[in-house]
Formats: sequence, structure tokens, C-alpha cells
Amino acid sequence: MTEDFSKLAEEVIARCRKLATFSEDAGGTRRTFLSAPLRDCHREVSLWMKPLGMTVSVDAVGNLRGIYPGASPGAPRILIGSHLDSVPNAGAFDGILGVVIAIGLVESLDGQKLPFGIEVVGFSEEEGVRFGVPFIGSRALVGRVDEELLRRKDANGISIRKAIQDFGLNPNEISRAVLSDDCLGYFEFHIEQGPVLESLGRPLGVVEAIVGQNRLEFVFSGQANHAGTTPMNLRHDALAAAAEWIVAVETLAQRAPGLVATVGFVEAKPGATNVITGAARATLDIRHASDRVRTESLDELIRQAESIAARRGLTVTWKTLLAQNAVAMDPFMTEQIEKAVQKSGCEPHRMASGAGHDAMILAEKVPAAMIFLRSPGGISHDPSESVHLDDVAKALECGRHLLMQLAASREFLGRTCRA
Ligand code: GLV
Ligand code: MN
Ligand code: MN
Repeated sequence: MTEDFSKLAEEVIARCRKLATFSEDAGGTRRTFLSAPLRDCHREVSLWMKPLGMTVSVDAVGNLRGIYPGASPGAPRILIGSHLDSVPNAGAFDGILGVVIAIGLVESLDGQKLPFGIEVVGFSEEEGVRFGVPFIGSRALVGRVDEELLRRKDANGISIRKAIQDFGLNPNEISRAVLSDDCLGYFEFHIEQGPVLESLGRPLGVVEAIVGQNRLEFVFSGQANHAGTTPMNLRHDALAAAAEWIVAVETLAQRAPGLVATVGFVEAKPGATNVITGAARATLDIRHASDRVRTESLDELIRQAESIAARRGLTVTWKTLLAQNAVAMDPFMTEQIEKAVQKSGCEPHRMASGAGHDAMILAEKVPAAMIFLRSPGGISHDPSESVHLDDVAKALECGRHLLMQLAASREFLGRTCRA
């Protein structure tokens, strides 16, 4: 392919930077599920999709869906996408890049129609920031948004059901978001969010599997009391118990090769300088490529929480917010990506993803695969997250090769959705 993708890559990066300005916070990017800036983002992205001949809609969980038709009316479709929500104090590329590259690929077709339509999806929720539960957007496409999930509340006591209504959507229509069985597969471009590709000097990676993860919330309950009058040996300090357990989490993960475990949020109640903490809430995020190692490590951390609490005269309770096994990507699609990476003049590198992605949810229903772009400095979930212009151009070129390979593949066109 002689086409030069660098102009399109410049546009892709400029668009990601523009979307980063749609934020709930004045000082940085934070765009959570069904927030006002997510609506701004929908408006802006729709303006990019519509002139390409795409039909744009927002489904009942707030996923933005733009359909570029195939060559014939009954043509099947492929999905390409990622998420439009962000963590607090986010960078401009996590998730967003995958949506914007997908639109860039449609743009690069310059009106050419393929034997399949292309549905570009901007998932409304992947990070789990607002409700503590990730993947709400992609779960809707595989029919996994149930009443229990809809009842879950955010920090302001607003349920997911109410948030959907407040956004002007109808939660009773969520089943309509489910993928139809004419979907041949799902592709996601995403920044690596780690240092591997950079260390190998390779622009693009081929994801073979996404590691499993659990997310939980622990509450240590002790006794709030006066900080000046209660002797140290007569306290039941919930925050001190949580702190001891947090160190235990780190120690266990440091000793188990490949295990990563993070306590990313802690809350102390009542939360005053002169009051011993009565209740401490702490989240746990634990991941490993082996489901057995992950679940055994989690059991051990629960045992340690119980033993720390008991020794200090406290109680501890926990609830699971996410239990997601590791997911393999589709071997045929992965091979096709590898070929497309090579055709773009890059040496492919097969790797596992330590980050969770919408692809791991979509894989329940359709063949799914991912392409990683090198992350400069290995940095993500931070405003300094970035991409190289040349790598974005290579990703676009790779995506074009991939589309053409699939358009010519009888094996691919003969596939159906695992409904
Ligand atoms: C998504 O960013 C994750 O936490 O893996
Ligand atoms: Mn993320
Ligand atoms: Mn992401």
C-alpha cells in the first residue's frame, strides 16, 4: 500500500486531544459514564461520522454507534471500537484512540463499500469509575446488563437505571442494544498502556489474550472514638487495619510472579483529624494471566483481611464488583492482524494485555481481537499518556490491510455470531 497515512494520523491525534477537553473537571480530563461531557463527546464524534455516510445512534446504555453500510443491503457487519469514558485525571488516548482510529479507517475508504458494513462503537463505560463496575457499555451488547446492575448506585446515591433516564435514555430498551447475529467480529485498537512494545522498539502489538481480573470493595468496621482520650491499646481503628491489609496486598503481589494487586481507593469515616476511624472502605483490583493464581491469591488476601480485623477486634465485609476470567482472542482474527501488521512494514509482537478491554466482553459473543499501539514511556491513566504520530499512521495502515484481507476472506465472510 503506497498510501500515506500520516495526514490522517495527525487528524486522529488532534481529535483525541479535542475530546480530552470534554471533562467534568476544569483542571484535567475526567469523563465518567453518562456525564454531561460524555454527551458533548457524542455530539462531536457524530459530527465526524455523519459526513462519512454513517448512520449514528445512541443505544439505551449510552453507547454511540455509527454504521457505515456494506456493499449490499443485507451485508453482515464488523464492529470496531473502544470506550469514550475515562479515569479521573486521564490522558487523551486510552479508549478514545480506538474509536477515533475506527472513524479514520472509514474515512480512508473514501466511500468504498466492502462486503460487510462497519459499525463503529464508542462504549459509554469501560473504566468502572462512576459505579465501581466496569464494562457497562460492552456488557449491554452481550446481554449482561441485568436488574441487579441497574440498581447499583454511584457516590451520590443515583442508580444506573436513574442515570440512564437522566441522560434521556430508556433503560427498558437495553435489550435492543444486544448485538444482532449478522456481526462477524470485533476489533479494537488501543494503546498498550505499558512498556513492552517500547522496550522492543516495535510500534504495534498483537493481543493474544487479556488477563483476568477481580474488583472488590472491603469495609473494615471498628469503633469511632476520641483521638485524645482513647489509649492506643484500647482502640479499634478501622483505618489502621485497612492500612495493615494494604501493605499485605502489596507484599503478596510482590512475591507472586505476574500477579498485580492494587488498592486504588480508600475512604475513612467519619474522616476527621481528632476522630479514630470507625469504618474504612478500600477497593481491591487483582489480576493475573492464570485464573487459578488470581483466585487463589484473592482467597489468601480475604483470609488476611479477616485475620487482621480479628486481631484488632474489628469486623470486615467485602463484596465482589467484578470477577472476570482471562479471555483468549480469536485465533483467526489474531493471525489476520499479525499479517496486516507485517504488511504495514512492522515486526508484530504477540502479547497478553494486563489491562481490561471491551474486547474481553465482546469475545463472549463474537470473535474478538486487538491491536496495541506502543505507549511512549509506558505511561497511561495519566495526563502524560501519549502516542507517536508514526505509530498511529502504522495502525491506520494496518487497519486498512486488515479490512481488505477480511473483505477477501471466504472463511471470515462465512462466520456467524455466537448468539
Ligand atoms: C482499564 O483501564 C483497566 O483498568 O484495565
Ligand atoms: Mn483505562
Ligand atoms: Mn482503555
